[in-house]
Amino acid sequence: MDFSLTEEHLMIRDAARDFARTELLPGVIERDKEQHFPKELITKMGDLGFLGMMVDPKYGGGGMDTTSYVLVMEELSKIDASASVIVSVNNSLVCYGLEAYASEEQKEKYLTKLATGQSIGAFCLSEPEAGSDATSQRTTAIDMGDHYLLNGTKNWITNGNSADYYIVIAQTDKEKGHKGINAFIIEKTWEGFEVGPKEDKLGIRGSDTHSLIFNDIKVPKENRIGEDGFGFKFAMKTLAGGRIGIAAQALGIASGAFELARDYSKQRKAFGTEICNHQAIAFKLADMKVNINASRHLIMHAAWMKDQGMDYNVAGCTAKLFASQTAMDTTVEAVQVHGGNGYVKEYHVERLMRDAKITQIYEGTSEIQKIVISRDLLKD
Ligand code: CAA
Ligand code: FAD
Repeated sequence: MDFSLTEEHLMIRDAARDFARTELLPGVIERDKEQHFPKELITKMGDLGFLGMMVDPKYGGGGMDTTSYVLVMEELSKIDASASVIVSVNNSLVCYGLEAYASEEQKEKYLTKLATGQSIGAFCLSEPEAGSDATSQRTTAIDMGDHYLLNGTKNWITNGNSADYYIVIAQTDKEKGHKGINAFIIEKTWEGFEVGPKEDKLGIRGSDTHSLIFNDIKVPKENRIGEDGFGFKFAMKTLAGGRIGIAAQALGIASGAFELARDYSKQRKAFGTEICNHQAIAFKLADMKVNINASRHLIMHAAWMKDQGMDYNVAGCTAKLFASQTAMDTTVEAVQVHGGNGYVKEYHVERLMRDAKITQIYEGTSEIQKIVISRDLLKD
């Protein structure tokens, strides 16, 4: 295993770092307050190639590896996790799923637009009664012969209003349990598609999270992804890569908070010296750095396994579990290092602390990551 970065890796990392500092940092506090993410910034991320990074260039993507993707996720998340979740959903949950499992016609019709950022995607698995327990789908897609009839409600959908295309998981045959679940590509403009109100959230407030309501949407047969009954496995396989992206988001949030805390501790004085000279503060920084480095190794390892074509499911869960805990611990301590200044918006660390929490909840809670990891280590 060689995790040293190539010239290309460094170039894409620096491009993301530059973009985050010059385009995302100005206005990040206002976007958080106003719960808004401007379309122009999404367009710029598309122009930089951040929205379809790993997709084959023949479908408009960047043809990059997973390491490049996690480097970009880390850099964007240091400044604005609301921006990086758009990147993560579009890359890992939408483009990856389509490239790996959609038909050639579906790829030409949808993937080419999604990979360039011309269109934005959303991934719709969660429901009011099916979050962690994802096989308990209540949304139904009834086979009507020449089309499916889609009805139900999805909850917590990232890019809920800003997306153009939605991958929707639905039950087509209740008797068959998870084998009676399918995934469909749905267009926002179709009759019967309704977007619920925007959620008023603790963190990643710039990201638009909505419930979606489907009322008798006619879904053409050709919009089903893969073989009949493949929908749950499709969701799980897609989420396996998504979790690496969210681990990198958590790493970025932690790194951003660490850098702010380190710099602040070198200029803030108390008791006649910079606070970094108090061992209690220096040790906090040491703990942060150790956990950040460990997270980075787990993430690079998972990304490397994916790029080698190995089974990366458990490695991705492990990276997400550890990095999201690191994001929480690091941001809480970064606020502490800042004292009272840590508690106000202009110093950024309070936002990073609020943003960190979601990494322990979405794309499988920490308890769900432990279920996957423990089932694997206990299997025969
Ligand atoms: N790859 C392929 N197949 C998989 C798989 C994987 N990674 N994981 C499970 N499967 C298969 C199993 O093999 C099984 O198939 P067979 O019966 O043919 O063997 C089938 O799927 C059902 O698996 P389980 O019996 O393990 O199912 P379960 O009900 O115990 O649930 C779970 C497993 C891991 C808990 C799963 O429900 C889960 O991941 N829950 C969390 C849901 C989640 O992560 N939601 C995220 C929504 S998207 C999001 O959050 C986006 C965002 O924020 C930005
Ligand atoms: P529940 O499943 O009700 O869990 C509640 C608690 O019980 C958790 O602590 C959980 O870990 C625990 N728990 C549940 N089952 C077990 C068990 N067997 N063992 C131990 N503990 C257990 N979903 C999408 O499909 N697409 C999206 O784009 C998307 N974006 C999101 C954005 C945001 C901001 C948020 C908040 C959520 C988003 N989600 C999305 C949904 C997210 O994936 C779910 O919230 C998550 O999977 C947890 O489901 P739940 O909220 O129903 O919690």
